[in-house]
Amino acid sequence: MSQIIITLNDREIVCQEGDSVLDALLRAGINIPFSCRQGNCQSCMIRSLRGVPPSAAQTGLKDAQLHQHHFLACLCYPQQSMTVSLTPAEAFFTEARVIGKTLLNAETMLLSLQCWEALTYYAGQFVNLMREDGLVRSYCIANSRDDGYQLNFHIRRLADGRFSQWVHQELAVGDTLAISEPRGLCYYLPGNPQQNILLVGTGSGLAPLAGIVGDALRHDHQGSIHLYHGSREMDGLYWIDEMRTLARRHANFHYTPCVSRGDAPHTVAKGRANEVAMSTLPSLRDWRIYLSGHPDMVNQARRQAFLKGAAFPDMYVDAFHVASSTLD
Ligand SMILES: Cc1cc2nc3c(=O)[nH]c(=O)nc-3n(C[C@H](O)[C@H](O)[C@H](O)COP(=O)(O)OP(=O)(O)OC[C@H]3O[C@@H](n4cnc5c(N)ncnc54)[C@H](O)[C@@H]3O)c2cc1C
Ligand code: FES
Repeated sequence: MSQIIITLNDREIVCQEGDSVLDALLRAGINIPFSCRQGNCQSCMIRSLRGVPPSAAQTGLKDAQLHQHHFLACLCYPQQSMTVSLTPAEAFFTEARVIGKTLLNAETMLLSLQCWEALTYYAGQFVNLMREDGLVRSYCIANSRDDGYQLNFHIRRLADGRFSQWVHQELAVGDTLAISEPRGLCYYLPGNPQQNILLVGTGSGLAPLAGIVGDALRHDHQGSIHLYHGSREMDGLYWIDEMRTLARRHANFHYTPCVSRGDAPHTVAKGRANEVAMSTLPSLRDWRIYLSGHPDMVNQARRQAFLKGAAFPDMYVDAFHVASSTLD
């Protein structure tokens, strides 16, 4: 096969065999935003000026974006040379101001942002946050939409994590950062109020699930709602009292904190959250399932829920894929 060339602003970049357009641009030192490299966050969306992007690289895009030949660079393994243009960040981002930073536990920060313009969103969706230098990461919205201006996030600090360390250590109340439009399908929609709901999350995966539970209860959801929140150690959990209070107020809401290692009080289940949920609950036939947090847990729980009778279309997922900053 002849060499595949990606042309950007008259510069010709060779796309090596097995590389995506994102890989090729990063190898060439182009500063292109990216985060998940899985086709989820859409932060790597660019536009083709010449050459048809493979349809797999346009998964999840809106009709208007397809019409303008936008595509996701991380999913694009080109079969022919292409000319591309980077979309200016202003097309996808607006500004927000930090109005609160509170530690939920030693590793997890509740970050509150005030948006310049009201956003239409559902708790459980995610946005991309962008730092001034263009570094982008996705975070789930933890609060229900009230006036549309304030968004809360639970941001877990990863060892050597560039964005999360910066949020914890440097970002200050009053600072601004860029925020994308909300994305994703993992949220509560009213309708079918009798349906039972299972939610399983690990670590800061509680963020979307707590928001979804809040929305379900606000809509007077009638079916049982079971939330399992897991962590390796006891100090990785948070909002235990808040969730227990909610469970006391709503007879159909059940909350189980889980710890897979180390000591835990007898009121906390021992084991991984997904294992505890699957071994405790009866058949999941006709249940709605929400899964959030570590991608391995999410994948395993999806399979387990399916084997217990849940249907894939009834499963909603926020898998926290982390971006790898290097190329293989
Ligand atoms: C849809 C979605 C929703 C998400 N929602 C949330 C949320 O609500 N809350 C939340 O906390 N997170 C969430 N995430 C994860 C989040 O987007 C970030 O990936 C996470 O915060 C880590 O980003 P970072 O820049 O701090 O770490 P990165 O700098 O991306 O590093 C990630 C990990 O890789 C390691 N690493 C980095 N570079 C190298 C290297 N060269 N070699 C070896 N290891 C390396 C780091 O030590 C770190 O542990 C979500 C992700 C997705 C896709
Ligand atoms: S969709 Fe390409 S990096 Fe997330």
